[in-house]
This record gives sequence, structure tokens and C-alpha cells, in this order.
Amino acid sequence: MTAAKTVFIRTFGCQMNERDSEIMAQLLGRCDCRLVSVPEAADLVLVNTCSIRDKAEQKVYSLLGHLRDVQAKYGRPRWLGVAGCVAQQEGERLIERMPVVNLVIGTQQFFRLPELLARLEHGEKHVVALDLSKDFVIPPFQHLLNSPSRADAASGAPVQRFVNIMQGCNNFCSYCVVPYTRGREISRPFADILEEVRLLVDQGTREITLLGQNVNSYGKTNQVAAGPRRFPDLLRAVAQVPGLKRLRFTTSHPKDLDLDLMRCFAELPVLCPHVHLPVQSGSNAVLARMNRGYTAEAYLGKVLELRRLKPDITLATDFIVGFPGETEADFAATLRLLETVRFASSFSFKYSDRPQARASQFPDKIPEDAKAERLAQLQEKQNEITFEYNRALPGRTVEVLVESAGENGQGRTPGNRIVHFTAASGQALPAPGALVQVRIDRAGPHSLTGTWF
Ligand code: SAH
Ligand code: SF4
Ligand code: F3S
Repeated sequence: MTAAKTVFIRTFGCQMNERDSEIMAQLLGRCDCRLVSVPEAADLVLVNTCSIRDKAEQKVYSLLGHLRDVQAKYGRPRWLGVAGCVAQQEGERLIERMPVVNLVIGTQQFFRLPELLARLEHGEKHVVALDLSKDFVIPPFQHLLNSPSRADAASGAPVQRFVNIMQGCNNFCSYCVVPYTRGREISRPFADILEEVRLLVDQGTREITLLGQNVNSYGKTNQVAAGPRRFPDLLRAVAQVPGLKRLRFTTSHPKDLDLDLMRCFAELPVLCPHVHLPVQSGSNAVLARMNRGYTAEAYLGKVLELRRLKPDITLATDFIVGFPGETEADFAATLRLLETVRFASSFSFKYSDRPQARASQFPDKIPEDAKAERLAQLQEKQNEITFEYNRALPGRTVEVLVESAGENGQGRTPGNRIVHFTAASGQALPAPGALVQVRIDRAGPHSLTGTWF
């Protein structure tokens, strides 16, 4: 019998990648492989990669360079593998550029890892698996559902888990690489999603975030999997799972946020009053060139409607600054939109050319220093607004879902703010999974601390 193979996985990028890595680890666990925590101890080092911006991609190449040096020095890892979005985007070019790479696994092939690893073990020098659904073929989703650690409660189920409901994206925002790296939008069968949620809640998970690049087009593109049901139907069904305390979703596209979905916030008590709704820009000219499919006015209209239906809802968003051709006036419109909506938080990025995406061919690229200047301005404004939200909290009591309880407790508010708390004199802290009321005592620009009574 051969000895158990050891694998080290390093993950970059979004929750999709996190979940894919988790599944790969689980599949390896089924086939005489063991995860290790340092690359030098591994037979295979697998880097699960992100290519959303150039910087993310460059990080991958520098890590691969480092791993090549580790291999030269220690004779280990035996093999280097690349999975995820850079793997899908670059394919065989990765091996041409870095011949030390032995394994390239695309975003829809990761569930074949055990089989591909066996091929390396049988002496193949380079193994490449890149097939991607270019049309609406339903890939085998059972690897998502039947992953072993979903049924492994030994280590205690985390309080909060992500559940994939779809993969891919059909939106082709002109700056974005995801439709090329993740293929066409495919919805996961309704019943499989519900089964996974039930399984997780049975194991002790209390908060579920439904995950996809564009969750609110769930079921619109391949009706085989979802039948006549759409995202609001899915939310209503998941909300009924007994024992589930909180439900969230990410990410939703403003153009697909319809009234039926907005009503869910008013209708479903477990649905947290918080939504991540990436706006990208406040300028209609820029939004049109981005191919976003809405105007700033339409976006603001949806925000008003959401707040009418659910007055305590908080909003988060994403911004891109320095999109090709973005003028000072365009950028000023973005700042105005930020001030009008007063997002509780936002992620903001400098536009980055992605070779496959259309905007990489657009004229009037903005110089790096101008992008950096706009980013700093935007972030300063956002920090002020976030701090104002925080400053309104001391003295108020908020509901916290406890995620950990060591020396201090930590959890999140319905609005997804992290709260650190202590127990009032003498009490033991509540266990992870409990929903408790915490009085906020102090608010910093990025942190909230309080007391549980
Ligand atoms: N599907 C999700 C997430 C996309 S990636 C969505 O549409 O919301 C997350 C964020 O990265 C995007 O919202 C966008 O703000 C940013 N982003 C994507 N491509 C980018 C690029 N080429 N340059 C800079 N930021 C980018
Ligand atoms: Fe990219 Fe747009 Fe799809 Fe989001 S909706 S993944 S930004 S193409
Ligand atoms: Fe990155 Fe791919 Fe996710 S590009 S953000 S890992 S979908």
C-alpha cells in the first residue's frame, strides 16, 4: 500500500473559491490524502486562484515563484497545482510560463482532483482539466451536496455557512473576467439547496448565506434545475427550515432586484435587513459603458423602495473608480450617490484591465495616480459615513448571533457588523449559535464593543 499523500491548499479570491477549496479538501479526505499546514510538508501544493484584478493575478505568480524555490531547496512539494480563475483563464499557458506547474484545474473541474492527482502519481508530468460550460449544460452538482464534511459534525459545525445556489455569470459587465472564468450561469437544483441547508442546520449552523455571482437571477437561465421557481421562492423555502435563525444572500445585481425580492425583506423574519448591492458608479455614462443595465436614478429608486418596505435595512456596495473615460464629473456623481444613499459600508477598487474583458479595449485609460487619488477620496467619505453609523450605536441594544466565545464573545448584528462583547459580572458567555441582546458601549471607526447582560 502506498503512503497517504499530503496536500496543502492555499486559497485566494471570493467565497466561491473558499467553498471550492473546502470541497477539494473534502474529496481528498475520501481518498487516502491528508491536508498539511505547510507547503514543505506536502506532496501536492494546490493554489486556488483569483483573477478579478491584475494585483490578484500577480499574487499568484509570486507565490508560484516562491513555491518553485521551496521545491528546489527541500525537494518538496513534489507537484505544484493551480486551480480557480487564473487556471481557467490561462490554461496551458500557465505551464508554458512556469513549467514547474504540473496540474491546472479549471473552475468546473475541481471535483476531479483525486483522479487528476492519481494521474500525477502514475507519472504524468502535466495534467490539465479545463472544460467549462459554455452553454446551459447542468454540471454534476452532487459534488457540492454530498461533500463529506457537510456531514462531519465532529469538529462542530460553524455557526455561519455559505451555500452555493448557482455558478457562473451571464452579465458580461465590460470590466469583469468572471463570465470568462466561471462560464455561463447555472442554477443548482432547488431540492439540493434545501437539503444542504437542512443538513447544515441539523449540525448546528444558525446562519446561512446563499451564494452566487448574481443570486437574483436564480432559475432564470436553466429552468430544468429550478423549475418555475425564482430566487424569492428559494428564499421563502429556505426561511422555513426549522432551526435557521438568520438568512442572507450575496451578491445581487441591481437590475434584477425586483419587487417580489424586495418584499421578502418585509415578509421573512429570518432574512437579515442587510443587502450588498454593488452600484459600481454614480455616473450614467460610466454605468452604460460598464454594461450594468441600470441608471443611477433606477438604482436610487430601488434603494428608496427597499427602505420603504424595510425601514431598518442597511446597504453595502462595491465601487470601481477610474473606469476608462471616467471624468472628474463622473467621479463627482459617484461621490454624490454615496452621500445620497449613505451606505453602511462599501468595497472600492481601482479599475484594473482584464485582458478578456471588453473594457480592456476601451480608450481613455485613467492614469494610476488619478485612480489612487479618487479611491482615497471615496474611501475617506465612506469611512466618515461608516463611523457616523457606528457612533449612533453606543447605548443601544443590538441582536448578536454569537460566533465565538473565548475570553470575549464575538458575533454579528443583523446588519453584518462585528461586535466584541463581554458578559456582565460573573456570567459565563453565551455559547456560539445563541442569539443574544448586547448593549453597545463603544464605537470605533471599524469596531463595536458591548456588554451582554
Ligand atoms: N458578481 C459579483 C461580484 C463580482 S467581483 C457582483 O457582480 O457583484 C466583486 C467586485 O470586484 C465587483 O463588484 C467590482 O466592484 C470589482 N471588480 C470586478 N472587476 C474589476 C476590475 N476589472 N477592476 C476593478 N474592480 C473590479
Ligand atoms: Fe462580473 Fe458583472 Fe457578473 Fe458581477 S454581474 S460577476 S461584476 S460580470
Ligand atoms: Fe476572483 Fe474568480 Fe471569485 S476571479 S472574485 S475567484 S469568481
